[in-house]
Amino acid sequence: MAKQSRNLPLDPDVAFETAAVRAGTERTDFGEHSEALFLTSSFVYQSAAQAAAMFSGAEEGYVYSRFSNPTVAMFERRLAVLEGAEDCVATSSGMSAILAVCLSHLKPGDRVLCGASVFGATVTLFANLMTRFGVETIFVPATDPQAWRAAANDHTRMLFFETPSNPLMEIVDLEALAALGRDLGALTVIDNVFCTPAQQRPLEYGIDVVVHSGTKFIEGQGRVIGGAVLGSREFIRKSIYPFVRTTGPSISPFNAWVMLKGLETMPLRVRAQSEAALTLARWLEAHPAVARVYYSGLESHPQHALARRQQRGFGAVIAFELRGEGNAEADRVRAWKAIDAVRIFSITGNLGDTRSTITHPATTTHGRLTPEARARAGIGEGLIRIGIGLEAVEDLRRDLERALAG
Ligand SMILES: Cc1ncc(COP(=O)(O)O)c(C=O)c1O
Repeated sequence: MAKQSRNLPLDPDVAFETAAVRAGTERTDFGEHSEALFLTSSFVYQSAAQAAAMFSGAEEGYVYSRFSNPTVAMFERRLAVLEGAEDCVATSSGMSAILAVCLSHLKPGDRVLCGASVFGATVTLFANLMTRFGVETIFVPATDPQAWRAAANDHTRMLFFETPSNPLMEIVDLEALAALGRDLGALTVIDNVFCTPAQQRPLEYGIDVVVHSGTKFIEGQGRVIGGAVLGSREFIRKSIYPFVRTTGPSISPFNAWVMLKGLETMPLRVRAQSEAALTLARWLEAHPAVARVYYSGLESHPQHALARRQQRGFGAVIAFELRGEGNAEADRVRAWKAIDAVRIFSITGNLGDTRSTITHPATTTHGRLTPEARARAGIGEGLIRIGIGLEAVEDLRRDLERALAG
């Protein structure tokens, strides 16, 4: 059969949108237009000698899908181009991406500094799991570079943060954190879930490592779980790849394929979703039942100027506080009642979906935190988090009106 594929290299200076649909593609000899899904656990060889060469790494090729897979490799290459990273390893989830960075980089006696307002499972990972391995974590007010410096000691090996953070949309100064990391000789790691590379490229600011929950905006339609670690070729090949290959938090080729296709529409989706989010955040801010709105696109956000400087948009997640009397029980009842009143928003913990979502962080995404950790992160009982999807913004506004009227 004739080979019919054209694998032409992409010009290095193509626009982000072009890279999102084209980068990393490698066609088979069949010439398929849409990227192939290689559902295979292992790969075969022409001879025992070739098998030996590929297992040892003397010859390049695919061995076993825990190590690498052509579909996974296409996803990794495309995401690396979009993040401006030298290399990428995809993982089974966002949490396993964070775990891979921790376990491949940290050792007993090390100190981690972590932003206080981050995803609940991330707090649990640092506060509980890593402690058992002798790694100490200090949670710091992430918006204050001085607080990071004050919490550091000679054993500080990692600075971890989200910006915007989940759920309070705090903005961390990327340049300041990158400089501090260099001073301390500590790895700077950002969870770039809320902005995606469509709106924020932290490596350009000197941050060392980006982690992703691909489950959110990258995948984009709430179907599968996955994640990724991105950074220098040296860090990814010497630290992350051997860890994932040996311990197995690898992404399934199917999930990688869904995410590869998700990347194609990500720039358009994120733009539309964040424009709708800004409209709704402005409307919520003016609503009498709302005490405070957390969204970095609002002029009232304390780090709005910084967000404008380092982001190309403000993301599609908003948190807001209902007006209450400061009584935790009454605040929770009011928040649950508002959530129960919606008809379009899905009551679910996920975000970054084409369908808008609503959740009560204190009892869901951050429910396993101790009351002290929740207080430190500023997550009250009256706080509601919404992830904006692709429904008409006017329908979403009416749905929120219904919730707030309750
Ligand atoms: C900011 C952030 N990081 C990481 C995660 C974890 O990702 P995953 O669910 O893919 O493990 C989530 C949500 O689940 C998140 O919101």
